[in-house]
Amino acid sequence: MPPIIEVHDLTKQFELGQSTVEALKGVSLAVQPGEFVALMGPSGSGKSTLLQLLGGLDQPTTGSVVFEGVDISHLSDDAATRLRRERTGFVFQAFNLIPLLDVRENIALPFTIAGQDATRGELRDRIRDVIDLVELTGKERHRPDQLSAGEQQRVAVARALVTRPSVLLADEPTGNLDYTTGGEILDALWKSCDAAGQTIVLVTHDARAAAYADRVFVIGDGRIRDDIALGRRPDHSAAPLIARLAQLGL
Ligand SMILES: Nc1ncnc2c1ncn2[C@@H]1O[C@H](COP(=O)(O)OP(=O)(O)OP(=O)(O)O)[C@@H](O)[C@H]1O
Ligand SMILES: [Mg+2]
Repeated sequence: MPPIIEVHDLTKQFELGQSTVEALKGVSLAVQPGEFVALMGPSGSGKSTLLQLLGGLDQPTTGSVVFEGVDISHLSDDAATRLRRERTGFVFQAFNLIPLLDVRENIALPFTIAGQDATRGELRDRIRDVIDLVELTGKERHRPDQLSAGEQQRVAVARALVTRPSVLLADEPTGNLDYTTGGEILDALWKSCDAAGQTIVLVTHDARAAAYADRVFVIGDGRIRDDIALGRRPDHSAAPLIARLAQLGL
């Protein structure tokens, strides 16, 4: 199968007053359909910049991003917005839920924004299915302030999945959560990939989170330092990843 995302020699520079920050210095990688990939690296290494380029949130300085066979590196604003709405789902460290809406309404938001009625038919069924996937059945009428932090992030995951995106892009989704609660989010992501074939790109600085992935790209100073194949492992043990990172001196 052709890759779902293919990135060729990507660079990204930010102009800051007189100086230029080189956030990405020539990154090439490919993500296969159904694959769970982690981008791991220290703070400032370029992970979020890369994720944003993969999802069409920003444009590279040079190089190309091919998303489902289409070069998206220089899309118009309208086309980029359409790509983000229809083909990608994003989850961030901050949950970004609407406080006045309940769980169901927050998850239905992508449909509501598109002017679709999500209270009946296929859309209603899809919402029920993602609520089940993130294990929030019975909490549909809770508002965000009536949920734990982990539950709130699971709502954000469900909202990102409900449109059935080609790729789910998650930037430090466990960054604001404790160990156990972070594990619930990672379990939900893994389940969507393993059971439903969801392609996932997860950004993290945490080896435990990266160990859920099939493959880990280690990012350092705007470049890919290593590509570690872990394979699909239901136990998610971080030991092989940590051993490999230690070998590399990372
Ligand atoms: N909008 C921007 N303007 C200027 N510099 C930026 C911008 N976004 C990122 N940078 C710089 O690019 C580099 C990479 O940033 P990026 O946010 O991609 O790192 P990161 O790996 O996601 O870090 P963290 O783990 O802290 O989130 C950093 O030096 C950062 O300061
Ligand atoms: Mg970041």
